[in-house]
Amino acid sequence: MAIIYDKGVRSFHLKTKNTSYIMKIYREEYLAHLYYGKRLEVNDIGLRFEERAHIMNDTPEDRVFSPETMPQEYPAFGAGDLKEPAYRIRDARGNYISDGRYVSHYIYHGKKGLEGLPSTFAGEKDAVDTLEIILEDSLIGLAIVLTYTVFEDYDIITRNTKFMNMGKETIRILKAASVSVDITGHEFELIHLTGSWARECRFNRVPLNTGRIELDSARGVSSSQHNPFFALAGKNATEDYGDVYGFSLVYSGNHLSQIEVDQYEQVRLIMGISPVNFEWKLESGACFQTPECVMAYSSEGIGKMSRLFHRVFRERLCKSKFANSPRPILINSWEACYFDFTQDSLLELARESRKLGIELLVLDDGWFGRRNSADSSLGDWYPNTDKLPEGITGLAERVNEIGMQFGLWFEPEMVSPNSDLFRAHPDWRLHVPGRPGHQSRGQFVLDLSRQDVCDWLVDAVGRILECGKVSYVKWDMNRQLSEVGSAVFPADQQGEIYHRYVLGLYQCMERLTAAFPDVLFEGCEGGGGRFDPGILHYMPQIWASDDTDAIERLSIQYGYSFVYPWSCISSHYSVSPNHQVGRVTSPETRAYAAMTGAFGYELDVCTLSEEEKEEIKNSNRIYREDRELLAKGDFYRLLSPEGHEKAAWMIVSPGKKEAIVYYFRILAHANQPFTWLKLQGIEDTEEYYVKELRRTYTGAELTCIGLPVSNFSKDFQTEVFHLVRRDLGG
Ligand code: GLA
Repeated sequence: MAIIYDKGVRSFHLKTKNTSYIMKIYREEYLAHLYYGKRLEVNDIGLRFEERAHIMNDTPEDRVFSPETMPQEYPAFGAGDLKEPAYRIRDARGNYISDGRYVSHYIYHGKKGLEGLPSTFAGEKDAVDTLEIILEDSLIGLAIVLTYTVFEDYDIITRNTKFMNMGKETIRILKAASVSVDITGHEFELIHLTGSWARECRFNRVPLNTGRIELDSARGVSSSQHNPFFALAGKNATEDYGDVYGFSLVYSGNHLSQIEVDQYEQVRLIMGISPVNFEWKLESGACFQTPECVMAYSSEGIGKMSRLFHRVFRERLCKSKFANSPRPILINSWEACYFDFTQDSLLELARESRKLGIELLVLDDGWFGRRNSADSSLGDWYPNTDKLPEGITGLAERVNEIGMQFGLWFEPEMVSPNSDLFRAHPDWRLHVPGRPGHQSRGQFVLDLSRQDVCDWLVDAVGRILECGKVSYVKWDMNRQLSEVGSAVFPADQQGEIYHRYVLGLYQCMERLTAAFPDVLFEGCEGGGGRFDPGILHYMPQIWASDDTDAIERLSIQYGYSFVYPWSCISSHYSVSPNHQVGRVTSPETRAYAAMTGAFGYELDVCTLSEEEKEEIKNSNRIYREDRELLAKGDFYRLLSPEGHEKAAWMIVSPGKKEAIVYYFRILAHANQPFTWLKLQGIEDTEEYYVKELRRTYTGAELTCIGLPVSNFSKDFQTEVFHLVRRDLGG
């Protein structure tokens, strides 16, 4: 068992291979947090209190103990601890105060799913154990179940919280964090991923000071503004050194992370659904389930934290059968022709692509209703027979005859005001009666808090997929939410609609991915606006950004790599000069920047020079040879693209038999010093043959001295190295 309850000291010790997480039932049945970090063998750690003026506690003569200075496991609002609470309620008398104390716990083998929400799961033979601790506020009849699952071999602990109304009167939940952790000491820096449309997921690292930092989305989607992830890294932590705590929320809607350093330099970390515009009515006997938070601690630097997330997400979060396998090389019609295509032009694109070694043609936006620009037809999911006389089935068959698989774009959550769907069901959109509502990209959002709308969506998409000829679906969503209200819920439940939207979305994704398990689904939100573990549970890859420029993508993909496995970051080779930034880059640089992701193309290959076509053929040959390793290997960041000088990373096969190193020279300088690229993740004591250099090095030489890389005197150049262990055929 990875979970020990020590009856003597009344502590809970959660152990993974390398980490310990310890809590204790403390005086007056408070649940105290004792420790999270490198694995320990003791079950108790002393809590430190000092006599202080102006502290609060349950016994007036005690000037030492206080629930505010005690690290709390799930702090309540307004009851002795005046820092940021993990939860807040309003009871039937209008009071906001709660006070949950320990009443019982259960430990069991395995892991349960979360009702209506995506989550990690245990494999059949996994060493996975779960602890449920129940806190109770007996005055109002509120039970709070804190659930911890230990993935021992993955070095991962997951948490979630469930609220149960055991009383007779209705309670309103105003804030319900998934996780709260109090850590002593503030010698940390905060790592988070921030951005916007077309410049998603930029890495940011800032110091912590007294006060509170909040990272949030109130946009209805997890958002490109703040990815639902943050890490606390020791001030001196690097890629391969130091303490790092990572937190990732399995949720695709509004979220909030709070990082508070208090007056005693203790750090409180809170993560969960955003309380903005959130109010959940919890009637007598009802439950509310929060999303899951995945926690990864590394004592060996930031790189290891990332690899812990990568492995558990690939193997124990993504449900798709494609999660751990190489993906087909695809070509997407969007930047190739936007809305301007016919069946004949698509078939020509397919024929040319096939010759170049591309395996799947994706028809993007513009195939349905009367859609010839972004201003109509969302919701009318039937083929436009002016453009596609044989419909989707006929087109897919012709594409299959050419020897390619066929994929299709949908934006199922949306409705255009100019659509048959909107004319038939004007109240199916999220809206507030009497307010016209803001459009974005000329569209409204369907109200997925309604079961009838979810049923319609599943049917509309399912009807097209039933032909059995569609091997891939790109599930897009091109706007964020505003005027969030629902026509079917009463006034006192309008505060539930943001979350109910996400629950409806998950229900649709669950039903469609279960009904079509052989279809490869890709998530998208106007690029990477909903790139989160919730979507990954259903869809093993997500379009990372509408910016397809190779150099911009280095920074974007570098950012995603802090949490997300390479294999789920969808990335395409596009035309030069690039459509978003006009940059001119070589075919080789574009190919290698895109290859370290779910690889594809996004340009009209029919118009390319013979020379570029040959380059593409060659890239596809290389990718086919490498893709097994790219899908399953361990990822190491070597040089950060931030600063615009150089970037480098490598993928090492399980067992360290092979590795591929990608080196990018971004901005070049004349007459530069020699560059040695220090590698990671390989065996120091083994010899590796580097194919491109036709030379053998010991692992130690490559990690301590480095690989000699070219001193390019031109901007935007690339070099790639394949390493094979000598004793294994290199
Ligand atoms: C979004 C996506 C693009 C493309 C367009 C189509 O912007 O991110 O890849 O599918 O929509 O309208």
